Amino acid sequence: MATLLDMTITHVPVLAGELIDALDPKPGETAIDATFGGGGHARLVAERIGASGTLIAIDRDPAAAERFADFERETPANMLFVGASFVDGLRRLRDDGVRADVVYFDLGASSMQIDAWERGFSYAYDAPLDMRMDSEQALSALAVVGEWEERRLAQIFRDYGEERYARQIARAIARRRDSAPINSTLELVDVIAAAIPAPARFAAGHPAKRVFQAIRIAVNDELGQLDTALPLAWEVLAPGGRLAAISFHSLEDRRVKQFLVARATGCTCPPDLPVCVCGNEPEADLPSRRAIFPSGGELAANPRAASARLRSARKLEVQR
Ligand SMILES: C[S@@+](CC[C@H](N)C(=O)[O-])C[C@H]1O[C@@H](n2cnc3c(N)ncnc32)[C@H](O)[C@@H]1O
Repeated sequence: MATLLDMTITHVPVLAGELIDALDPKPGETAIDATFGGGGHARLVAERIGASGTLIAIDRDPAAAERFADFERETPANMLFVGASFVDGLRRLRDDGVRADVVYFDLGASSMQIDAWERGFSYAYDAPLDMRMDSEQALSALAVVGEWEERRLAQIFRDYGEERYARQIARAIARRRDSAPINSTLELVDVIAAAIPAPARFAAGHPAKRVFQAIRIAVNDELGQLDTALPLAWEVLAPGGRLAAISFHSLEDRRVKQFLVARATGCTCPPDLPVCVCGNEPEADLPSRRAIFPSGGELAANPRAASARLRSARKLEVQR
């Protein structure tokens, strides 16, 4: 069910002009928006592909499906919404023989998800521990915080949140839940803050920021989804098609970069072989090996763009 906040808060699309430049959607083309959200990027793509184009939107959040219904009424282009994870959605499209000219990802959570307080994504509001993008999924933040072993918690806080006090925070959670369950976001914030030595508590932003990011990534299997979805997206892309991804932290960006650079490299022979024996040809053309970052103007207007970076590639015709 859409909340009042859902209806009044919108998501400002990040790196929008840069994404459109990279994708270069043309009239009549087929585009897949793997992370529809509020449809900000989709609107710009739909304007470019026009009434003869086809836009396929994927999102696993049922609230995005509701927004898509309005979007569809207002936008030309032929439209399809796939309510699923982008792994399942892309797999379905591939199995149906869809060939796209454009596929793009705008990773992570939307502003609507973060600001809908009752969904528990934010450490700024008191809400039940949840953080599921797909509200029908079984695993929620409540189960991660309440049931995962201390060692596993420390590992995700370190690996997904780059939290310096990962071990101490995991221990504090385990101790606290021995006496009383942690049910809400602010109860979790209190446990995290108390586990961090006082001088360091606000040294790197809000003390709960990194742990909340880690739990969200774990609940939604964000990195596993990305690792599986990138090859699927590449498969559904027609030769000459363009793939782009906007990431919000280095764990995602590294995956996107490695995937695209591997496609652009071709030869996989060991570097000490005098001649290529694998015969692999590059499958991708990268405009640059460097990511594109938001401009100063965008950062001033939308602080949530701060950690965004964009990478893209064009798929080449490969003769096998
Ligand atoms: C950053 S928002 C996208 C915003 C959108 N580009 C716009 O301009 O409004 C990310 C969206 O992708 C969805 N999402 C994230 N990971 C997903 C996944 N693995 N499968 C399907 N949807 C996903 C989220 O539910 C969220 O709605």
